[in-house]
Amino acid sequence: MKILAIESSCDDTAASLIEVQGDTFKILAEKTASQIDIHKIYGGVIPEVAARAHAEKILPVIEEVLAGTKPDYIAVTSSPGLLTALLVGVEAAKTLSYLWNIPLVSINHIEGHIFSTLLAEKDRSEYKLDFEFPAICLVVSGGHTELIFMKDYGDYLRIGKTVDDAAGECFDKTAKILGLEYPGGPKISKFAATGNPRAINFPRPMIHDNTFNFSFAGLKTAALYWLRDNQLSAMNILPATFPAGVFAQPQNSITIDDFCASFEEAVNDVLVTKTLKACEKYHPKTVILGGGVSASRSLRARLIAEMQHYDQNILVRIPDIKYGMDNATMIAAAAIHRIQKQDFTPWQSLAADPNWHIGE
Ligand code: KG4
Ligand code: ZN
Repeated sequence: MKILAIESSCDDTAASLIEVQGDTFKILAEKTASQIDIHKIYGGVIPEVAARAHAEKILPVIEEVLAGTKPDYIAVTSSPGLLTALLVGVEAAKTLSYLWNIPLVSINHIEGHIFSTLLAEKDRSEYKLDFEFPAICLVVSGGHTELIFMKDYGDYLRIGKTVDDAAGECFDKTAKILGLEYPGGPKISKFAATGNPRAINFPRPMIHDNTFNFSFAGLKTAALYWLRDNQLSAMNILPATFPAGVFAQPQNSITIDDFCASFEEAVNDVLVTKTLKACEKYHPKTVILGGGVSASRSLRARLIAEMQHYDQNILVRIPDIKYGMDNATMIAAAAIHRIQKQDFTPWQSLAADPNWHIGE
């Protein structure tokens, strides 16, 4: 069977065509039209602007991956995300389902990020649905920071979430304070690679509370106040790109690399500590790290090292960097088990929903 998947929940218009046989699948074609060049002008994603860009790209992207093929099923991200952005993908999927009279599968974006970890290497000829359950899933992106206990395919319990900003949002907002372009996560990560993670002792919000929830708004504010009260001395990027005054009078030896490494260390500390705490309670066989922030090399390395130390039998699954970012192949992969269970949504009743959370 062939599945066409469509993703438009934020700032990527994506489509993918996969072919499934039993529990294995191969990618026949995939395409993502990124809107980063549009949104960096505004320093973040403007929903109305995103929706217009999705509307322009959705059909060319779908047409390119299909290349004349008629799929057997259509999967589409229907939630969570920006309503106006989701609507474009959902309406395109509904229209095709109606015209071709083929079943429609509604996919949650977070579930997609979980299934992206089946795509640990790119360019493989075949992938397999081979999760070992139960699993603890840490999904960290620009819009979400969630800890999910996954008992089986489609069986989720959301055990933790951010009470304010998402981790990726915290990266992006701190990067903005530094004058770096949207999305700032990868830029902070790049500086951090050569910095001292112990140079600045940033707060680790909620790290030792007795929930699995997160809070990142205070960390961003701490970064802002640190920059207000201190100045970075050595810089390896152009001062002109920074807000006036921030780096004007060097006073200490902390560099932008140290600042970013210390910031990243604070985020990693919180994410990894809470994941370990979840492992202590839920005894998983697998730990899954998904979402755009999973591209952070230091987070990947830290999680793998700590899990190895905690219990070598727990398998850590992380997507290839390409599939860590929003894409439609992860949505197609998440649709397979739903199709096997005939879990379809008639096009007449599918609606984009910005706030459907799995496992609630
Ligand atoms: O999953 P994603 O593509 O979109 C959402 O669903 O939000 O995640 C994008 C987020 C952005 O906030 C971006 O700054 C962050 O992932 N990100 C990173 C890195 N690469 C992307 N954050 C930290 N380190 C990175 N290397
Ligand atoms: Zn995402």
